[in-house]
Amino acid sequence: MKHLTLLLGLAVSSVSTAPTLAQSTFDRVKIEAGEMLFFSECRRCHAPDATGPSYGPQLDGVVGRKAGTVEGYQYSDALAGSGIVWTPAALRAWMEDNDGFMPGTKMRHVGIDDRTVQDFILAYLSSISD
Ligand code: HEC
Repeated sequence: MKHLTLLLGLAVSSVSTAPTLAQSTFDRVKIEAGEMLFFSECRRCHAPDATGPSYGPQLDGVVGRKAGTVEGYQYSDALAGSGIVWTPAALRAWMEDNDGFMPGTKMRHVGIDDRTVQDFILAYLSSISD
C-alpha cells in the first residue's frame, strides 16, 4: 500500500509538472498505478486475460469492444442485449455506478467516483487492449 501511495503521489503531482516530466514516464506511472488499482478493485472477479479463471468476463481488449462479446461467457440479458461499446466514457460511467448506468447486470455494484482513480484504471485497461 505504501508503494501505491507513493505512485499515486508521483502521478498526481506530475499532473501539474507534466511539461518537465517525459510523457512516456507519466504514462508508465499511470499504467502501473492502474494495474495496482485493478488488482485491488477488479481482479477478484476479472482476469486480465484468458490464461486464468475469471468469474466475470476477462478484460483484455475491453477498451473499444462491444459489450457482452467475450466468447463462452454467460452474460446477463441486460449486458448481452445492451448494444453499447466500451468507450472510455462508458467505462468511466460503469466504474462510477454500474447499476445506475446499466440496471440488471450480474456485476455487483462498484462505486469508483474519483476521476483520477478512473484515469489510472483506464490507462491500465487501455494498455491490455492493444
Ligand atoms: C464482485 C465481482 C466483480 C467486481 C469486483 C468487478 N466486476 Fe466487472 N463484472 C462482473 C460480472 C459478474 C460481470 C458480467 C455482468 C453481466 O453479465 O451481467 C462484469 C462485467 C464487467 C464489464 C463488461 C465486460 C464485457 O465484456 O462487456 C466490464 C467492462 C467490467 N465488468 C469492468 C469492471 C472493472 C473495471 C472493475 C473494477 C473497477 C470491475 N468490473 C469489478 C463482476 C465484477
